[in-house]
Amino acid sequence: MDNPVIPASGTFGFGYEFNNWFDISVLGSIALKGTTIEARYGNPLPRIAECPAGMINAIGLQNPGAVAVRDIELKKLAAVYPKKVIANVGGHSFGEYVETSAILSAAEEVFAIELNVSCPNVKGGGMAFGLDAGVLEELTAAVKEASSKPVIVKLSPNVTDITVLAKAAERGGADGLSLINTLVGMRIDLRTAKPIISVKRGGYSGPGVFPVAVNAVYNTREAVSLPIVGMGGIMNAENVIEMMYAGADCVMVGTLNLIDPCGSKKIIEDLPGVMERLGIDKLTDIVGRAHR
Ligand SMILES: Cc1cc2nc3c(=O)[nH]c(=O)nc-3n(C[C@H](O)[C@H](O)[C@H](O)COP(=O)(O)O)c2cc1C
Repeated sequence: MDNPVIPASGTFGFGYEFNNWFDISVLGSIALKGTTIEARYGNPLPRIAECPAGMINAIGLQNPGAVAVRDIELKKLAAVYPKKVIANVGGHSFGEYVETSAILSAAEEVFAIELNVSCPNVKGGGMAFGLDAGVLEELTAAVKEASSKPVIVKLSPNVTDITVLAKAAERGGADGLSLINTLVGMRIDLRTAKPIISVKRGGYSGPGVFPVAVNAVYNTREAVSLPIVGMGGIMNAENVIEMMYAGADCVMVGTLNLIDPCGSKKIIEDLPGVMERLGIDKLTDIVGRAHR
């Protein structure tokens, strides 16, 4: 990649929509909306709750299905974005993960599969696969076998020790890790005394989770030797540097895109100035600096 900033899955649609706001070719890559084998309408509304330092979402993996993503969404994106992208895969069973990964990894526009085993918003699936080390290792191995491109496993922060899962993904043959997905959260409406989100709980993201994400990336860097995509609450270029100091090789930017559709572009524009101020010549030099 020519720069390490990638909009995070679920916060940037299928990418081309944002070309209305800015020239998206400046982005290092793009992580596509989580895709499942069948089309999904997602959860009923409301599925967003605002918080003072972030938001809770329970979209429920709304997407048009793997074949439509390959044949329609990826073609629309390729018309405005010349670089390769990351396909984010969700599922309810090993079979669904394997089949979706096989379909999307075969697309020429895709250079890696991001395996979402950490979505807290889908009943009976998603996160369930990412909380048990044995299951995660087996799933990673199955998807690796079915996928013709590198597999990045996206880890959940909703665990006592994220490094146990990181090591399991590494044993399963993962080519990289991305972390963190959202933290399970809830807000309650003061007038109705009922949870705001239709399915009660959702995933908390945004600047409030940044310290949790930095700690998770720091710990994971010490535990495994895989490349790491760091994310969680990144709002500016300084946050990118901090995440890379913790051990991220590149970063994803999520909630910021919902606040400012040009947020990822602004971070890319701001990075050279922040690097100069901190005496950094090359970003690759600073990966894991906090460990040295
Ligand atoms: C509205 C919304 C939808 C999301 N959808 C997905 C998804 O489909 N697949 C996935 O792996 N992560 C999904 N995420 C998680 C983000 O990719 C990211 O891991 C998380 O939000 C933390 O980063 P942030 O604090 O910068 O938003 C979603 C997050 C938000 C806010």
